[in-house]
Amino acid sequence: MTANAMLSDLSAIGRTTRGGYTRLAWDDATMQLREWFAGQASATGLEVVEDGNGNQLAWLGDGSADGRKALLLGSHLDSVRGGGPLDGPLGVAASLSALNRLLASGWKPTRPIVIANFSDEEGGRFGVACLGSRLATGASPADATLALRDDDGTTLAEVMTARGRDPRSAGPAEWLDRIACFVELHVEQGRWLEPHGAAVGVASAIWPHGRYRLDFCGQGNHAGATAMTDRRDPMLTYAATVLAARELAAGGDRATFGRVQVAPGSTNSIPSRVTAWLDARAEAEPALEALVGAIVQRAETAARTDGTSVTLTAESTSGAVDFDLPLRHRLGALLDAPVLATGAGHDAGVLAARLPTAMLFVRNPSGISHAPEEFAEPIDIDAGVDALVRVIEELG
Ligand code: GLV
Ligand code: MN
Ligand code: MN
Repeated sequence: MTANAMLSDLSAIGRTTRGGYTRLAWDDATMQLREWFAGQASATGLEVVEDGNGNQLAWLGDGSADGRKALLLGSHLDSVRGGGPLDGPLGVAASLSALNRLLASGWKPTRPIVIANFSDEEGGRFGVACLGSRLATGASPADATLALRDDDGTTLAEVMTARGRDPRSAGPAEWLDRIACFVELHVEQGRWLEPHGAAVGVASAIWPHGRYRLDFCGQGNHAGATAMTDRRDPMLTYAATVLAARELAAGGDRATFGRVQVAPGSTNSIPSRVTAWLDARAEAEPALEALVGAIVQRAETAARTDGTSVTLTAESTSGAVDFDLPLRHRLGALLDAPVLATGAGHDAGVLAARLPTAMLFVRNPSGISHAPEEFAEPIDIDAGVDALVRVIEELG
């Protein structure tokens, strides 16, 4: 089956009324996607296993006979809330389709090949991105991760248990020791390949980034009876912080408030608390630290003026990633593809700390991602699969 056909196979799963996708870790949609993945992989002749972290791994050979380490492919099937169809599924579908095509042509691998569906890459449910790969590599400790709560207050451990998994199995994964290198194909996020006239690019680096929770606290009160001068309104401090973040990131960094909770959340009450999440990214770690520090400083200044308080909690941070230089050069030369950096996070970024890792990007003419309009031309998706076929022939 082609990757385009696989993607249309998935088009009804987790679809929202606005035309996008909400596929959060362990929800009904991702459970259906897990089944789909297992079915496709089995039909390709792969053996599907799941590690203790919910990562699905479809193996062609396991290296037990000769100890050869495997080539890992794949990506993730979960999405952000209201996301697009390609961030994640494109890499999984392209990997399955490329391997399918090679096997049908009679090609024989010289090493095991594994295709992964990583669990909870987006962190849309428990707030921390790349949970499956972070747990598998040990980048995030199992105990603290299993205690993370979703918006309903349910912990990851409880959610996994409800889905028939044993959370005591979560943690560093043995299968990683059997991997030689990882190549993740992904839809481009941002618009760089289009003006450069290329359907496929190779990643050079991932910007360091982090997710930070800011709790703004004030005094809840009556919206009609409280004079404007008597208020201690945390919404004001939050609003000032959003504007400050925008100003401070204007030189080329990124600062986004995409999620906010207001307590008590009633139209005719001054809020007592506003909790907002800052996603911040920059080209280098010192720049990221400086950006977040400056935003907090401006928030504290505003809090003093407003009679409120603000506290910052770093919920997850990811350092800068430079993808393996020899592998990147090898794939760039093989595919004659341009090299680009990305501000988006990926499981490949987590695994890069552990083994040689590379990424391929498929042109996204609008540059839009994490939104329903995320798109790649079918012909470019085919080009991505062609590229992956060559990569598998080269490395597999
Ligand atoms: C994931 O796509 C991220 O960059 O946050
Ligand atoms: Mn994403
Ligand atoms: Mn992704």
